[in-house]
Amino acid sequence: MADNRPIGIFDSGIGGLTVLREIMAALPGESTVYFGDNGRAPYGNKSHRTIIQYSLQDMSFLLEHDVKMIVIACNTASTHAYKTLAASSKVPVVEVVYPGAEAAVNATRNGRIGIIATGATVSSGVYETAVRQKAQDLINAGINRDAMDNLSIIQQACPLFVSLAEEGWWDDEIALLTAERYLKPVKEFGVDTLVLACTHYPLLARTIGKVMGPDVKLINSGISVASVVKRKLIENNMTSDGSSVTREFYTSDDADMFENVAAPFLGRGLPSGTRTVTVDRYDVSKWEEARA
Ligand code: DGL
Repeated sequence: MADNRPIGIFDSGIGGLTVLREIMAALPGESTVYFGDNGRAPYGNKSHRTIIQYSLQDMSFLLEHDVKMIVIACNTASTHAYKTLAASSKVPVVEVVYPGAEAAVNATRNGRIGIIATGATVSSGVYETAVRQKAQDLINAGINRDAMDNLSIIQQACPLFVSLAEEGWWDDEIALLTAERYLKPVKEFGVDTLVLACTHYPLLARTIGKVMGPDVKLINSGISVASVVKRKLIENNMTSDGSSVTREFYTSDDADMFENVAAPFLGRGLPSGTRTVTVDRYDVSKWEEARA
């Protein structure tokens, strides 16, 4: 039997739309409910505890919409809150770190991988661990052996990229100057693969690409996340029949602002009908305590 319930997707703001876009492309028959917590963004400079609390509230909001799956379309929330969310949710939860890490180890030829992310993601060390685990999987399977034996990782926090993305300044001189400054050490490290380990960063991909040059492969984990979502829907017998596809959008800040910034990226008249909601009313202390 088809499962026509929507997929719930959240991020601290518009960054998760880079994941939503790939989900829509890979699974056009699936309905979606998107929540961007723009009112409380950025998450990347918040504490571990606050990121968990916000993520639980974001998930609670989506669960009220009878979603069949939660996609944490945010690396910061994935690194800090995935375990808590997966343990608290009654539906499958998909995170974005491991799919991105897997794409990176498959892409590199010289084993030098850059990870750019929010401060909270970098300091958690979760992304680097994920890349090392995925590299070990390849070594065990005898794939991309030379690169994996020479694996070297550099991490760089690029917090201003999130503000630039939220502002819509994706491809101008301010974005370029900022990128040049952040990416200098990453370039000097000689990476051939750069993971955009924050879902806001693919919005700045042109600028980042200009700075890194054509020989560096940029990894947008959204594509790999969409295939994980597809696989999990099939495994759980949850695919829709595509008969009535709906796209709902919610933000915790101004709906017009959200739509104006997001429209050039999503296209096709989306997002539309965005509604403003507050999610801090959800009391998630029970789940937080269960985790402690
Ligand atoms: N888009 C989010 C991420 O992938 C977080 C950006 C932020 O709010 O700092 O990490």
